[in-house]
Amino acid sequence: MDRLIIRGGRPFSGSVQVAGAKNAALPVLAASLLVGGRVSLSNVPAVTDVGSMLDLLRMLGADVTEAENGRLSLSSAAVAGSEATYDIVRRMRASFLVLAPLVGRLGRARISRPGGCTIGTRPVDLHLQALKTLGADISQDGGVIEVAAPGGLSGARVVFPTPSVGATHTAMMAAAAARGETEIVNAAREPEVADLAAFLTAAGATVEGAGTHRILVQGAQSWRPVAHTILPDRIEAASYMIAAGMTGGRVEVMGGRLEHLGAACQALEEAGIRIFPSDRGLIAERDGPLRSVDVTTEAFPGFPTDLQAQFMAMMCLADGVSVIRERIFEARFMHVPELQRMGADIRQSGSMATVRGVKALHGAQVMATDLRASMSLVLAGLVAEGETIVHRVYHLDRGYEDIDGKLTRCGASIERVRG
Ligand code: EPU
Repeated sequence: MDRLIIRGGRPFSGSVQVAGAKNAALPVLAASLLVGGRVSLSNVPAVTDVGSMLDLLRMLGADVTEAENGRLSLSSAAVAGSEATYDIVRRMRASFLVLAPLVGRLGRARISRPGGCTIGTRPVDLHLQALKTLGADISQDGGVIEVAAPGGLSGARVVFPTPSVGATHTAMMAAAAARGETEIVNAAREPEVADLAAFLTAAGATVEGAGTHRILVQGAQSWRPVAHTILPDRIEAASYMIAAGMTGGRVEVMGGRLEHLGAACQALEEAGIRIFPSDRGLIAERDGPLRSVDVTTEAFPGFPTDLQAQFMAMMCLADGVSVIRERIFEARFMHVPELQRMGADIRQSGSMATVRGVKALHGAQVMATDLRASMSLVLAGLVAEGETIVHRVYHLDRGYEDIDGKLTRCGASIERVRG
């Protein structure tokens, strides 16, 4: 398993191109199963989760051609497979996103139920609720979920008790394949939801209200070939802004958008990082000492759970005490013991962590069991005294495109050891 060796202490400065958002690319790729004609996508990030989704689409019968620079084209004309096995769902939970398009396209699907993962129990009840409301029959046998809608799906009113990004994606894709109109109430408002809505609309459905709590979908009468550009990755952008903030550098994140990062930018500004727009994206630079800030993760437009670990790494070095509350995933604190090994002063109690800033972190051997937690350790390593070895880099490769290249070009001393 690859590891990264980071020698800390250099400012992170320069320009970094933000890749397309993994969490927008995955649902758009799944939704491509609905489209009869050719789908051309640009700004698809070169991360291993996208590779896993492409493997799954190929297994189902899609014809995928990958070109350079984030472009790919695929045709689902020959899709006949309707099963996503345990092996693939275990590798990547987001495989579950193919369920609704398969049911919409073929009238049936079988998919292994994803288990919990290191950040929480992560149920799929809301995905299934949406499909059931649109008329699908759902049964379960030995950990495999079977969904059937032999006569097709029908538009209906889906009311979610709580907003879920993935379940909103499932509901939108099912509704796009259904007859008539669907109303989705208490929908997730994340930018990645609006990106999927734009894709479905370009391909033949009509989706209105994405980005608000209420989404209206008219099912597609027919599907047409579509070209779509994946929106930039707001979490990657903010991760590099935090890198500049922690190391006292200045970075331009090309493709970063303020409207996707309101709550995060506000917290960064309060922490002492100045953020302003440039022609190409956003510039972040440290403006004096780091100050402690309390944050609570929330659904968009609140502070994103996908930045909690990275923000905590920064708070480890801020003046004062910061209280960080995780409200989306109950177990998303795997980075805490690893940051403690680097000298951080963090006390965790349930879904709350109290971080008391220290003067310095020191290098150590660390590893984390999820993507964002791993990124927080890389950030800590950039500023720690001495050498940090981050193990299990494959977590980072799942969601950060060319992480070693981007860090190195902005001045970090980082080396990947393969094996
Ligand atoms: N939930 C349910 N039932 C469901 C679905 C979700 O109770 O059927 C709960 C979850 O347990 C959680 C809350 O609803 O407490 C919100 O979860 P959500 O469904 O919004 O998350 P997700 O769709 O599983 C996506 C991202 C995550 C990101 C979350 C929150 C993808 C592929 N994944 O997950 O990304 O943290 O939204 O923004 O889009 C990451 O990139 O590192 C990552 C984990």
